[in-house]
Amino acid sequence: MRLVLLYLIYATMLSVALARRGRRSSAGATGATPEPSPTRVLIVGATGGTGRQLVAQALERGHEVTALVRNPSALGVEHPRLRVLRGDVLDYASVEAAMQGQEAVISALGHKRFFQPTRILSEGTRNLLRAMETRGVRRFVCETSLGIGNSSGRMGLSYTLFVIPVILPFYFWDKARQERIIAQSAVSWVIVRPGVLTNGARRGHYRHGPNVGSYIRTVRISRADVADFMLNQLTDNTYLRAAPGVCW
Ligand SMILES: NC(=O)c1ccc[n+]([C@@H]2O[C@H](COP(=O)([O-])OP(=O)(O)OC[C@H]3O[C@@H](n4cnc5c(N)ncnc54)[C@H](OP(=O)(O)O)[C@@H]3O)[C@@H](O)[C@H]2O)c1
Repeated sequence: MRLVLLYLIYATMLSVALARRGRRSSAGATGATPEPSPTRVLIVGATGGTGRQLVAQALERGHEVTALVRNPSALGVEHPRLRVLRGDVLDYASVEAAMQGQEAVISALGHKRFFQPTRILSEGTRNLLRAMETRGVRRFVCETSLGIGNSSGRMGLSYTLFVIPVILPFYFWDKARQERIIAQSAVSWVIVRPGVLTNGARRGHYRHGPNVGSYIRTVRISRADVADFMLNQLTDNTYLRAAPGVCW
């Protein structure tokens, strides 16, 4: 009984810490200066689940896509408007080289090192932002997760009480750090916080905004729909400097 109580205190305190640590306000920016629609887009995490959807849909939309990947042969996509560059977000030189000539950056960075403290997301994002500021690239759209900042608890009860505190505490802590770094940057950013990701088809309709998600049931969305929403954020100023959730 005492152990259960201690565990619940830990899970609740982690939830509160993630709420305090992440980006807090999800209000959109008003009166934003219009920026030209970006054509040339750098996609980070392109070999991942969301990243592959981003590449495919960005090409469908007519963007000139550069994919920054650790292993170019893993992408397995060829297209006249797709350039694949080898690099690593933790290697600043490769990030700055990829930033040359870009107009926007979309990040679907992730990893599977769940059970150890890491700074891959936060330090990788710091490098992206530094290179953007150096090269004058304005728009940054970054995938994080429901459960951070003022969306804490909104992934559903099983995530709040089990998955995040037991499997993902280090990962979410770094995500919270990542959001904080983005919020402090000078670029035009949008943080996108999806629910649990599926590999389902693109529906093209989903809920988004500061109050989506559920404190009780697990909320989901396909990577295809997340990519659709993220690409919309390249030109839509509704959530500029804000962190909307997105789920079905
Ligand atoms: N799974 C969920 O239910 C869920 C829910 C909400 C939010 N999210 C978040 O959504 C994001 C995307 O998730 P996903 O499952 O679609 O992606 P994923 O399959 O985990 O892909 C992650 C991508 O990041 C790349 N990457 C990792 N370290 C890198 C580095 N040092 N330099 C360059 N690239 C690097 C990976 O490249 P390699 O192919 O080389 O490894 C891969 O392309 C993640 O941040 C995840 O936490 C996930």
